[in-house]
Amino acid sequence: TLDEVRDALYTLLPDNPEFVRKHIIEPFYVSDDDYKKVYKSLAENLEAGLDDTKHHTATLKMWPSYVRDLPDGTETGTFLALDFGSHHLKAEVVSLDHGKYEVDSMNGFVPEKILLHGDGEKLFDYLANFLHRFLKRSGLLNTTDRLPLGFTFAFPCKRLAINKAILTRWTKNLHCDGVVGEDVVAMLQAAIERRGEMNIECVASVNDTVGTLMSGAQEDPKCAIGVILSKGVNACYMEQLEKVGTWTEKQSDLPNQVVIDTEWSEFGDDGCLDFFRNDYDKMIDENHHKGKAIFEKMISGQYLGEIVRLVLEKMNDSDVLFQDHWTKELGTRNRFYTKYVSEILSEEDIRFIHTRKVLEDLHVPLVVELECRVIHHICQIVSTRAATLVAIGIACLLDRINKSEAGIAVDGALYRFHPLFKDLLNAKIPQFLQTDKKFWLVQSADRSGKGAAMAAAVTERLHRKNDD
Ligand code: GLC
Repeated sequence: TLDEVRDALYTLLPDNPEFVRKHIIEPFYVSDDDYKKVYKSLAENLEAGLDDTKHHTATLKMWPSYVRDLPDGTETGTFLALDFGSHHLKAEVVSLDHGKYEVDSMNGFVPEKILLHGDGEKLFDYLANFLHRFLKRSGLLNTTDRLPLGFTFAFPCKRLAINKAILTRWTKNLHCDGVVGEDVVAMLQAAIERRGEMNIECVASVNDTVGTLMSGAQEDPKCAIGVILSKGVNACYMEQLEKVGTWTEKQSDLPNQVVIDTEWSEFGDDGCLDFFRNDYDKMIDENHHKGKAIFEKMISGQYLGEIVRLVLEKMNDSDVLFQDHWTKELGTRNRFYTKYVSEILSEEDIRFIHTRKVLEDLHVPLVVELECRVIHHICQIVSTRAATLVAIGIACLLDRINKSEAGIAVDGALYRFHPLFKDLLNAKIPQFLQTDKKFWLVQSADRSGKGAAMAAAVTERLHRKNDD
């Protein structure tokens, strides 16, 4: 438990109780009452984003995804999927046959110079080229039948239709000119046409959380929430249309519901979380898109390692730990990767094999056990706060949906590789739930690739039905 961790730190650092209290324990201590305040505030923010009179100033944008149904097992056909979420790319061809599916996929990587300094057209040309390579490999160039594509675009978009998504701003530290304010589906489609030889129509575009939910729901029809825990953190859920004040579409025969992309990474951007943010959080904020994505900065894989590093740096600066073991790498911003946190917390060996490896990677000349123990505890404290915040978010969404039980489809490297996240979520969600709900976490096998294909397939199914 956290109490044990705190006691252990005092014992390990007997000469510096004041430092431990002031710079490790207190900054990360959030009382149960404070966490309840967070729950209340998040619940209000979710509500405000859906309210058409408050939406324009609301922090959480709660974008309707235009995905109106989850897979029902009847989806059939061949679909392409393209997943773009920052550096990683994935193309897939998914063959669906009444609930059974086969996937063939190809992974790729977008170079930093395109993501950070390139212009939008270049980025989309890169994506289209990647698709071209994939289709060539799969023998799908120049098909006579049009190939429907589901596009997972893991950034905040104001959606105007299932295949019209306007990027509101770049997140995850991307900067690429000429895309904000544009329809990313049209940009992709135009790049596909420029490249030629591909008979593709982008029929659906989804956020990665929505892809995760679709993919999870294909495996477990009771999934109603999709969560991504990776470089970014975000969630979506199925909402009843009457609760979506911002929904302006005409009545139709489609189901009376829509998946909402909460974009909850931005929770706290109005200052409502300032009452427990600490100096480390503020330093992180200074160096990355200041004032933006406050919630995400306390949780995501982009920052957890850096928070731990800042604590270690403070210990070194105050001569509490490391003495002459401090290295340039330890002192380098963002160099303590979140994967180290996962590796350190996976430690079961009393000789601290993983932790030693991490410290060797950071060129620490001589690794001593005291350092290993202290770092382990700090990783635990930082991770527990992060997981608790996610648990609050999930509890809020569970309380919103009018179902007595629901699966939560979760994906992302932070969830997959961090050894404590899943257990922490399972333990903490019930502490915050205000209604009587049964829930379970579903790790979706292939979040967004299959998910985007499912979104395309469900869209085609609903439209076919509507046309009949
Ligand atoms: C960021 C993006 C969001 C995405 C999340 C996970 O928070 O703004 O759209 O879902 O990262 O990739």
